Amino acid sequence: MKVLVTGSSGLIGSEAVEYYDCQGHQVIGVDNNMRAEFFGKQGDTLWNLGRLQESTQQFSHQSIDIRDRRTFSIFLKQRSLT
Ligand SMILES: NC(=O)c1ccc[n+]([C@@H]2O[C@H](COP(=O)([O-])OP(=O)(O)OC[C@H]3O[C@@H](n4cnc5c(N)ncnc54)[C@H](O)[C@@H]3O)[C@@H](O)[C@H]2O)c1
Repeated sequence: MKVLVTGSSGLIGSEAVEYYDCQGHQVIGVDNNMRAEFFGKQGDTLWNLGRLQESTQQFSHQSIDIRDRRTFSIFLKQRSLT
C-alpha cells in the first residue's frame, strides 16, 4: 500500500513514517520544513528527515507546501495518490 504522510519530518509525522515503513508499505512524506519558519533554527526538522532517510526502507520525501493546492494536487496525481 502507498501511504502519504504530511508533516512527515515532525513529531507525529515521523512516527507515522517509521510505523508504516516497518509494516512494509511505500511511504511518501511531504514536509517543507515550515517548522523552521515558525520557530527558527531550533524548529528545523531537517535532522529528522535525514534520520528517516537513513533508517527506513521505502520512504521518499518531497518538500511541498500543502497549502499550495495546485502543486500538491499535481504531485498527488504524479504519484498516483488520487
Ligand atoms: N516539546 C517539543 O519539543 C515538541 C516538539 C515537536 C512537537 N511538539 C508537540 O507535538 C504536538 C504535535 O506535533 P506535530 O507532529 O503535529 O507537529 P510538528 O511541528 O512536530 O510537525 C509538523 C510538521 O509539519 C510541517 N509543516 C507545517 N506546515 C506545513 C505545510 N504547510 N506544508 C508542508 N509541511 C508543513 C512542519 O515542517 C513539521 O515538520 C504538538 O502539540 C507540538 O506542540 C512538541
